[in-house]
Amino acid sequence: MRKPIIAGNWKMFKTVSESTAFVSEVKGKAEVDGVESVICAPFTNLPALVEAVKGTSLKVGAQNMHWEENGAFTGEISGVMLKDLGVHYVILGHSERRQYFAETDETVNKKTHAAFKYGITPIVCVGEKLEEREAGQTKEVCRVQTEGALKGLSADQAAETVIAYEPIWAIGTGKSSTADDANEVIAYIREVVKGLYGEQTANAVRIQYGGSVKPNNVSEYMQQSDIDGALVGGASLEPASYIALVEGAK
Ligand code: G3H
Repeated sequence: MRKPIIAGNWKMFKTVSESTAFVSEVKGKAEVDGVESVICAPFTNLPALVEAVKGTSLKVGAQNMHWEENGAFTGEISGVMLKDLGVHYVILGHSERRQYFAETDETVNKKTHAAFKYGITPIVCVGEKLEEREAGQTKEVCRVQTEGALKGLSADQAAETVIAYEPIWAIGTGKSSTADDANEVIAYIREVVKGLYGEQTANAVRIQYGGSVKPNNVSEYMQQSDIDGALVGGASLEPASYIALVEGAK
């Protein structure tokens, strides 16, 4: 059985004090047996968040990292630095990183390897643009991005990777993919993993849906055969909404 995982991606929102206030409100509530609950915050908030979630089942994630351990890379943060803080997850290859910060399948792959080197679980984002969907290229885009991200990983590492399928046209737009459509693409991504690593790995890998997930639609996604959770932007920012998302993933 794959454990459902709800990950809030705060993007570039919240100060340190707002982050810790959020944890005070969700503690004990966004903690549901059988559901993993992860908050992915800006780098500046990570030390305070790691401290704030101590003694809870909440986990903390970053939203990016560099693939090198250290070096002359002004403005970057490495996996060893995140590990040292007590961060458990890192989002890699989010479409906003691909669009605005020149992230490629190759850099995502380097970062995925680096995350495992430092014991951090990657949440790898894949998904098509609107024009790619309209051109019938959704599955091909997801295949290329999935294969690119996983390239060279062992079967155990691939099984531990969390993949987030996020159709770009559904992010922050209020236009979510239907649960059936999302499930079809996610089942296909699982087939791609099967082609690379075999059935056991494909059955183990957790694949989330992301794109305008809200408390009122999360359970619809969770009822699908292949959807193992959600990567949530906007609706993860308010404590009550985040709690409802985690509860909805039961
Ligand atoms: O990482 C999260 C996604 O970009 C989804 O964002 O829930 O605001 O549509 P959203």
